[in-house]
Amino acid sequence: MDDRFNTIAGWTLFGGIVALGLSSLSAHYFLADKEHRPETMGYAIEGVVEEGAEGGAAAELPLANLLAAGDVAKGEAVFAKCKACHTAEQGGANGIGPNLYGIVGKPVGKHAAGFAYSADLAAKGGNWDFATLNEWLKNPKAFAAGTKMSFAGLPKGEDRANVILYLNSLGSNLPLPAPEAVPAAGAAPAAVALVGDAAKGEAIFAKCKACHTVDQGGANGIGPNLFGVYGEPVAGDRGGYAFSDALKGKGGNWDDATLDAWLAGPAKFAQGTKMTFAGISDAQQRADVIAYLKSKK
Ligand code: HEC
Ligand code: HEC
Repeated sequence: MDDRFNTIAGWTLFGGIVALGLSSLSAHYFLADKEHRPETMGYAIEGVVEEGAEGGAAAELPLANLLAAGDVAKGEAVFAKCKACHTAEQGGANGIGPNLYGIVGKPVGKHAAGFAYSADLAAKGGNWDFATLNEWLKNPKAFAAGTKMSFAGLPKGEDRANVILYLNSLGSNLPLPAPEAVPAAGAAPAAVALVGDAAKGEAIFAKCKACHTVDQGGANGIGPNLFGVYGEPVAGDRGGYAFSDALKGKGGNWDDATLDAWLAGPAKFAQGTKMTFAGISDAQQRADVIAYLKSKK
């Protein structure tokens, strides 16, 4: 009798442990899935417009690039989500959350006079720079486990960058970090330098011919003549061609990195560009076209 009871109790216990293990395992699995899944599933299909698909197959752009391409007005719109708890104007009252005027650059968890911060945030140390704000707004609880800010976070990098720009515009105005050169959608890791093939590039250039000539003395069309463009200033003097302000404002020269970024996503490289071309998602094809442009000197 006793034996049988022990056996039953044993199996019951065992079953419970298995069930517990499974449920925590699956919770872990699904959570992990949520946190680490790529922004967009699948892979890039060459020639397909990837706009609106959150950067397409590319991983999220670095914060510096999102900030550079960001928009204070959009950040103000995002801030609507924060207003239930925060004021942001100078001298604004603390509410459920602290007043945020001038927060960018200030010490974490100490800035708003008279606000009772959680112990975790107050003990965090450091300043609210662009990177820490980005981390915080992505997931407040991951940044400071015991935080009182019961806000799930902003999953989209653009939203975070824009709201940070908005906060920065309110009494901080810190200089933005310089954007990084990033391998674009579908690009091979930066360490692997792709060798372009000018002959293949010429074939790919067929896509560009609707708008560009590339021979010496060729006319400007919808786009400028591209003879000798490699090494030249971005939107420099190309026979009087009227570039968009977006491209004119870019500065710098056309080198491998800038041409690669441009051809991967013109609208991403220069928001407001007149070049209505979706981009070339294949890094090897971009390298080939760049090799072709280099050969046209
Ligand atoms: C539900 C209320 C709530 C919402 C919504 C909310 N916050 Fe907060 N926020 C708080 C609280 C509470 C704290 C203090 C956290 C602590 O002490 O742990 C805080 C702290 C902060 C801090 C740190 C301030 C400091 O002085 O160190 C920043 C920055 C911040 N919030 C930004 C935002 C932004 C931006 C949004 C919107 C995208 C937002 N919060 C949405 C309640 C909220
Ligand atoms: C639908 C027309 C169109 C197509 C297709 C097109 N472009 Fe352009 N391109 C333009 C326009 C318009 C501009 C000027 C952009 C501006 O001012 O914002 C431009 C600008 C450029 C520039 C910058 C020139 C400079 O002097 O700064 C380069 C380089 C360039 N295009 C390369 C290409 C390549 C390579 C392709 C094909 C893979 C291509 N473009 C396809 C219209 C086009």
